[in-house]
Amino acid sequence: MTALFTPLALRETTIPNRVMVSPMCQYSCDARDGVATDWHRTHLTSRAVGGAGLVMTEATAVEARGRISPEDLGIWTDEQAAALEPITEFVRDQGSVPGIQLAHAGRKASTSRPWEGHEPLQPDAGGWDVVGPSGEPWPYDDEAPATQRLTRDDIESVVDSFRAAAERAREAGFEVAEVHAAHGYLLHEFCSPVTNEREDGYGGDFDGRIRLTREVTAAVREVWPDGKPVFVRISATDWLPDRESWTVEDSVRLADDLADVGADLIDVSGGGISPDSWPENAGPNYQLPYAERIGSESSSDIAVGTVGGITTPEQAAAIVANDRADLTIVGREHLRDPYFTLHAAQALDATDEIEGPPQYRRAFGF
Ligand code: FNR
Repeated sequence: MTALFTPLALRETTIPNRVMVSPMCQYSCDARDGVATDWHRTHLTSRAVGGAGLVMTEATAVEARGRISPEDLGIWTDEQAAALEPITEFVRDQGSVPGIQLAHAGRKASTSRPWEGHEPLQPDAGGWDVVGPSGEPWPYDDEAPATQRLTRDDIESVVDSFRAAAERAREAGFEVAEVHAAHGYLLHEFCSPVTNEREDGYGGDFDGRIRLTREVTAAVREVWPDGKPVFVRISATDWLPDRESWTVEDSVRLADDLADVGADLIDVSGGGISPDSWPENAGPNYQLPYAERIGSESSSDIAVGTVGGITTPEQAAAIVANDRADLTIVGREHLRDPYFTLHAAQALDATDEIEGPPQYRRAFGF
């Protein structure tokens, strides 16, 4: 059996192979209401048809002001959840596992879509005031939207929003809930000393800074079915070695804390906390060493997923065969090739190891 096509069992959920579609914003709720459109249905279901074991939605906002752009998906209303339900059903019908990334963009919210310049949007231009651990705005070239420091009461309501979003996602049929705590968005802004200068219980030392991520993960776990897994995406490093910042050692420690509140897998990404928080070389497998370290050094037996620069079947297969990560998470290659997993089975001479759609049998030969 090819390791890439062995199932991954987490709690009572079995992911049929080790390929996950990475969460990728589509900026396609054209009515700016957070409700999934034909684009989302086509995008997500075609990747399930393409054989990915787990199809994760884009960053799906748990409250309106937590959207990156006005066109992001949301799950703070019943209408938004209802629009996602047929997608989860179809993904499951293909033998794939539907996952949802629950997100809050913090001070990086309220921007235009990438193809419209990714510029900060003021409230009079369709944007809104944003929130963060402090009132310090993201350093845009243009004027940032007003950035408010969350009060203790506001923090409680953010945790409640994540919990309510998870409840809606559960009812909509998702099997994996992923907490987005990476890329310089709200939870990462609390974790990193680069952006968190709070002196109350949600800042200061490591335990204070990770408290919000821990509380959000615990709240999601509380309402997520016992048999179904919770993932957390983290930035393993801020890539800012010259200043006090978030490090891989911090990530190993965080993984243990999150395992403690019921997380099952750490989705290991990186960067995004400030404009200079980028890898020097984003080549093949560029974030794999962090996933490996978290997997081997954390004292819990939490699973790890690796993302970043995975583009070929051989690469993904080697990561799993050499036990370097439990799950390979493929982003941009899935935009180029929705059928990445079916093509991988062909390339690895393993079409008899997967159950592809019978409609496509004559093309792929499973
Ligand atoms: C992303 N990425 C991303 N990450 C995330 O956690 N939530 C998201 O909604 C998005 N949105 C998004 C949109 C688009 C168009 C791209 C290209 C990327 C990051 C993505 O999931 C992945 O981590 C990176 O692209 C690196 O993986 P690849 O592309 O090298 O496989």
